[in-house]
Amino acid sequence: MNAVHTTPAPCLGGNAVQRCIMPGCGESFPTSERIYVCSKCGGPLEIEIQLKSIADPGKLRATWRERALSSAERDKSGVWRHRELLPFAVDSPIVTLFEGNTPLYDAPRSAEYAGLAALRLKHQGCNPTASFKDTGMTAAVTQAKLLGAQTVVCASTGNTAASLAAYAARAGMQCAILLPFGQVSAAKLAQSMDYGAAICEINGNFDDCMRLIQELADEPSIYVANSINPFRIEGQKTVAFEILEQLDWRVPDHVVVPGGNLGNSSALGKGFSEMKHLGLIDRLPKISVVQAEGAAPLAHAFKNLASHSAGAAKGIPNEIPFVHRPHTLATAIKIGSPVSWKKALRAVLESGGEILSVTETELADAKAIIGRDGIGCEPASAATLSGIRKLVAAGKIRKDETVVAVLTGHVLKDPDYVSHYHRGSLSIESHEPGKAPARHPIHGRYPNAPARVAADKKSILENLKRR
Ligand code: F0G
Repeated sequence: MNAVHTTPAPCLGGNAVQRCIMPGCGESFPTSERIYVCSKCGGPLEIEIQLKSIADPGKLRATWRERALSSAERDKSGVWRHRELLPFAVDSPIVTLFEGNTPLYDAPRSAEYAGLAALRLKHQGCNPTASFKDTGMTAAVTQAKLLGAQTVVCASTGNTAASLAAYAARAGMQCAILLPFGQVSAAKLAQSMDYGAAICEINGNFDDCMRLIQELADEPSIYVANSINPFRIEGQKTVAFEILEQLDWRVPDHVVVPGGNLGNSSALGKGFSEMKHLGLIDRLPKISVVQAEGAAPLAHAFKNLASHSAGAAKGIPNEIPFVHRPHTLATAIKIGSPVSWKKALRAVLESGGEILSVTETELADAKAIIGRDGIGCEPASAATLSGIRKLVAAGKIRKDETVVAVLTGHVLKDPDYVSHYHRGSLSIESHEPGKAPARHPIHGRYPNAPARVAADKKSILENLKRR
């Protein structure tokens, strides 16, 4: 993926540069440059906001709260009401669907299941296209428009695609998405069709789609909206600001997220870190990432890292072993070669968090428990609760600590999974080398299948008694 140099557009800017995160490089590029990795060393880029130029950071809390009550377009978005920390000029045109401002729920049944006194769930599935991707996509598509790109593209396990398709439609831009054939839930695919994207179903997995995107990135008319794009991360980091606002600026002890391509964990880390640099909080929450066991390259690498002490950017290895045939029924996080693993690892190391994996059964049961709190999430999101339960059992989270789990997608994103779990027919295919593929049932502990009941009052009451 090479840098494509473009003439700086007039509205670009704000108060920021794009900077390579690799220690020993740190090269910077203007925000007007259409570039996804460092053209000097190939390292990942992030946006560096000039925090020093914010005259009175203490005022931001009140300004952001006031905007939440305003009816101006820019204020109604949970992303754009935090615009002092976004890399755009204050008057640049934006592409928004009023994303963000999602609820933070108390979840007592989930807390009990995890062994905690209390647990809060930040439901990013309550965004316009029902996943957390919208908070990033509003920034990425805004940037695409400013750069004059004609086509926005992404590889996706389904949610990024649905989100990009919607924002591209709002912006009147062409959208092309690459999806792994047969591995995307019908609901997510339906969204992308409805929003008018050009959908390319690829014979291969997500990692193959991502490799193709990196080849397409050299085309001058194309703009890549995967989380390798640092502007995406800028939108997504605002969830950290919202969590703090919703907790009245008391820093939670732990924030736990599912990990796939690892953009979201990177974004959370950046958001909290900026708040600390501005003096709006005095410590970082521990950021922990949970992957599905069959698609857990960073969890495996983390186990092998000898030390994970604070401030350890230099402790990031040059490479980690990727997973060549990732497998999990949580298709959103079925990723073996995550592009943002370096940034995510840095966020975890700097905050003193953990990276772990959970089994298919642990994940499926946790999803059903979240449901019993009256909160519906898609399978990948439930990796958080099952991971928290393990961290509590291991003594890495104490019962009385403040814990926030980020739910990344809505329950209606994958109704087939939910239905199979509750009817007892959930199963996963395994591909062991040298053996024929076999299906393994997943025996959930909290099924809730519908009952066929005769059409009379007595039968209904008897049925209720038996439950
Ligand atoms: N949860 C959901 C619901 C997701 O859709 C994804 C990623 C993740 C968690 C993981 O987030 O990649 O930032 O670590 N979905 C991408 C997609 C890959 O294409 O929709 P991450």
